[in-house]
Formats: sequence, C-alpha cells, structure tokens
Amino acid sequence: MGTGRKAWQEKSALVTPEAVFNDRRNIIKALGLGALGASIPGQVQAGLFDLFGKSEPHAPFVTHPLAFSGNKAYGQQEILTPEKKVTTHNNYYEFGTSKTDPFDNAQGFKVDPWTLRVEGLVDNPLTLDLDDLTKLLPLEERIYRLRCVEAWSMVIPWVGFPLKALLAKAGVKAGATHVAFETLFDPDQMPGQKSRLMGGGIHYPYVEGLRLDEATNELAFMAVGLYGKTLPPQNGAPIRLVVPWKYGFKSIKSVVRIRVMDKQPPTSWNQLAPHEYGFYANVNPEVDHPRWSQATERRIGEGGIFSAQRIATLPFNGYGEQVAHLYKGMNLRQYY
Ligand code: MTE
Repeated sequence: MGTGRKAWQEKSALVTPEAVFNDRRNIIKALGLGALGASIPGQVQAGLFDLFGKSEPHAPFVTHPLAFSGNKAYGQQEILTPEKKVTTHNNYYEFGTSKTDPFDNAQGFKVDPWTLRVEGLVDNPLTLDLDDLTKLLPLEERIYRLRCVEAWSMVIPWVGFPLKALLAKAGVKAGATHVAFETLFDPDQMPGQKSRLMGGGIHYPYVEGLRLDEATNELAFMAVGLYGKTLPPQNGAPIRLVVPWKYGFKSIKSVVRIRVMDKQPPTSWNQLAPHEYGFYANVNPEVDHPRWSQATERRIGEGGIFSAQRIATLPFNGYGEQVAHLYKGMNLRQYY
C-alpha cells in the first residue's frame, strides 16, 4: 500500500459520494419510506430522490483502492481540497454544464470494457484495456494544484504515472512534434454529446493536445485515481491527463486515444472560442481572459466557491521551475 496514506485520507473516507448517497437513503428511512422503497419500481424511487435534490437514478459508481508509491517531490506542503469537493464540483460538459451535473449524471458510466490506443508516430502502437491502465506502469501519487480557467482552484492527490513513461513504452519516432488526446465519444452514455445545449456547444469528441516537449515534461501525468482510489467518472474515469501548469481544460478526461503527430492538433475550447482559449493555455496571472481577470483565484475548501479564499495566481500555476524553460523566448501574450 501507499506510503502516502495520511490522516487526511482517513478523514476523507467519511465524505465519499457513497456517504452522500446514504444520507439521502437515511432521509427516506426517517420519513418511514424505507420499507415502501424496497417494493416500489425504480422510476418511482428515482422520483423520491428528486424530493431531496437532483435525481439519482443510478447507485454511486464504485471506485477501488489503488496501490501506489508515495511521491515527496510535489505538493507535500499543500492543504488538500476535501475529497467531497473534488468529486462534486466538476467541469465535464459531456455530462452537462453545471458544476454538479457530472456527479449527478455520470454515476452509471461504464469503464469496462475500455480501450486506450497509443498510436501515430510510434514504434509500438499500444492497445490498452482497463486492467492495463493500472498495471502497465508503476503508480505513484502526485499532489498537484488544478487551476481552472474560470479562476477557481483545488489541490488534488492524483494517482497515476508520468505521460512520458507511457510514450516511452510506445517509442516516439523521430520527427514527432505534438501529442493529441481524445475523450470517449458515446452519446448514449454522455447526454452532453446528444444535445448541443447540454454539452455547452462543444463539437464532440472533446480533443486536446500538447507539444511533445510538454508531453514529456516530468509534470505531465496520466491519472487513474485520486485520493488513493480509482477515478470516479465525474473526474474522468478510467484515465485522464493532468497538466498542472496549464488551465484545467487542457487536462482532458476519459481518454481513449493518444496520437503522436508531426503537427499541432486541434483542441476543443480553442475551436469553440479561439480568442478566449489558446492552444497553450499556460496559467498566467498577467494575461487576462477577455471577460475576467486571471490575477487571482478562489481556492476551494470545505465551504465551496462562495466561501473560498481568494489567493494570488502564480505564473505556470507555481510550476515555473519545472516548465518555464519550455517557453523561453515565446511571447506568452500572443501564445496564450
Ligand atoms: N475533459 C472533457 N472530456 N470534458 C470536459 O468538459 N473539462 C475540463 C477538464 N477536462 C472537461 C475535461 C475543465 S474546464 C476542467 S477545469 C477540468 O477538466 C476539471 O477537472 P475536475 O472536474 O476533475 O476538477
């Protein structure tokens, strides 16, 4: 088991989505509806859940503990965002555009079977199934800050492996310059892919990209878990990218394809609003979003967005030491 298991992890076990779900069940029991609940059809039960908030037609997605080694290099001094916030305040437009939609709508998401392909300019294209994702490479924990372009942030203990290690398994060919990523396209499971309104106008599948030197930087990480367990769907199960020096939209979820290329790939938010979202999207307090300042951010804690503490945003989200050299000589106002 991981050496990184600390007091905060035990405490966090009390606030899993399971606890939220059980809370609702207890309310139903307290109202004397428990016995009734056992005998009524699912649709009526879902209606009962509606009484207490959004409908919850599915039992919570089940996550599993992951074995990983501790990593002392990053984030040990950070105060972690409570697990309950990490898993209920999300951006995942395939499941709806509000912050609670992903938790509410993704619990029935199926990750098995899963196929992740690593292809393009590689010597050994890889086809990985769900099991491979947690077994192919040694897992480690990385505590990273996540800074959303919407000016809120969290600190999340991810479990996964460096993207660089995965690319090394595939063997990147000479001449490669970029890496493209693609999220699952499955409108039957992802209501936001069915309706343009619910999906925020994005042209699906959601796609992202990095320059090869960014993708092979030590910080670029493929997460298969958080808080010591496999990822819940709302956070991008079963595997997602995490690039902590860039705005959160670069950290693409539920990845099915990684393609090594010799040109810059298109990226979803850049396609939707190119004057607002660039390809690079490096966290930069000096370059504002056209509609709001990026100088500060709300660090989400126990209370959520409105009680969150406002703090200064750091260049490259505080990871300049590891990544600033990648952009030497580039005009970061032009390449936002
Ligand atoms: N990936 C996909 N496929 N679809 C999305 O809508 N949202 C992005 C990113 N990855 C998104 C996505 C945005 S805007 C952010 S801030 C992060 O996921 C949020 O990650 P989290 O919900 O795990 O905190």
